[in-house]
Amino acid sequence: MFETGLTRTLNIQYPLFQAPMAGGPTTPDLVAAVSNAGGLGNLGAGYLTPEQLRSTIQKIRELTDKPFGVNLFVPEQPEESKEAVVQMMDHLSRYHVRYGIAQNPLTLESLELFEEQVQVLLEEKVPVFSFTFGIPPQDVIQAMQQNGTVVLGTATTVEEARHLDLAGVNAIVAQGYEAGGHRGTFLKKVSESLIGTMALVPQVVDHVSVPVIASGGIMDGRGLVASLALGAGAVQMGTAFLASSESGAHEAYKQKILSSNEDSTEITSAYSGKAARGIRTKFMSDMDQYSGTIPAYPIQNALTREIRQAAAKANDPEYMSLWAGQGLRLVGGQSAEAIIKQTIEQAIRVQKRFQ
Ligand SMILES: Cc1cc2nc3c(=O)[nH]c(=O)nc-3n(C[C@H](O)[C@H](O)[C@H](O)COP(=O)(O)O)c2cc1C
Repeated sequence: MFETGLTRTLNIQYPLFQAPMAGGPTTPDLVAAVSNAGGLGNLGAGYLTPEQLRSTIQKIRELTDKPFGVNLFVPEQPEESKEAVVQMMDHLSRYHVRYGIAQNPLTLESLELFEEQVQVLLEEKVPVFSFTFGIPPQDVIQAMQQNGTVVLGTATTVEEARHLDLAGVNAIVAQGYEAGGHRGTFLKKVSESLIGTMALVPQVVDHVSVPVIASGGIMDGRGLVASLALGAGAVQMGTAFLASSESGAHEAYKQKILSSNEDSTEITSAYSGKAARGIRTKFMSDMDQYSGTIPAYPIQNALTREIRQAAAKANDPEYMSLWAGQGLRLVGGQSAEAIIKQTIEQAIRVQKRFQ
């Protein structure tokens, strides 16, 4: 049912990917449960050390013999004035006082992290490698493909999709405005790259030579059938899996997901210095009042990390990042297997209506 070129290439039953979600939600249990249920589970590994990455992949392999994907962040080197960083540290110190934690000096992940992560993926011969925030060097894409790995890039505009196509990826995730989490935008300003999924997917499909995966606001069988009708070869669903029993999202975050609506989210760069969609929090409204410059990703991300961790420990969602998309009212708290089963059953019913 719903076989596409992509399901054949990836050797999966349904054209349904669970989105990679860095920062904890995509546990080995979730990734494996999705793959075992016929979809493609994806690990969000952007923040993992090479050691954590290897052991997590091994755990996934203990839980499934089906294909799965691993997602990394293409590294960025921001140029930020020391003054902006010092000013931000001064501003954020109130939250360190709030949680009674020390404010440590700024430490950024080494630029070699991405290369080391790639090395692990090559050694582990992962079935699928996806990336966001840019395009990795040609040799990385080629080495993956020569190793038998299917490579997917993320685009938020047709132009970005064309660049990815030229770079030789096997398929492109088209990420619409509705999507939860960080925007994958890498060519123009984010404000010029906020295209809704309904408009983005068919335009990308028309301008690239590889299959397209629709992503952003797809929550159920209706979204799946609509995406296939727009020409997508699969969908990638993130928010729909966030409150699932296998998701590693914090309990307070899950509760917020289950009680929020389509109008609860906003795109903000307050947490990480990079635009991302999440449920509106007190931290976001506090930061709206900040008159200085928010340092670029990954600097701001590193500056707020301890605050977010302390907030999680204190069960205080207002100071955690609660990434989520606009489909919030459609989220349930079932198991990953149940989400996939219901999505496919509903898609079959929807499709029958048109026959
Ligand atoms: C909590 C969260 C974390 C995310 N982390 C990543 C990530 O690490 N890598 C990535 O490519 N996309 C990430 N995304 C974006 C998803 O790949 C996808 O574009 C998005 O979830 C689709 O929109 P939806 O949430 O409305 O389904 C994340 C999304 C969420 C909600």
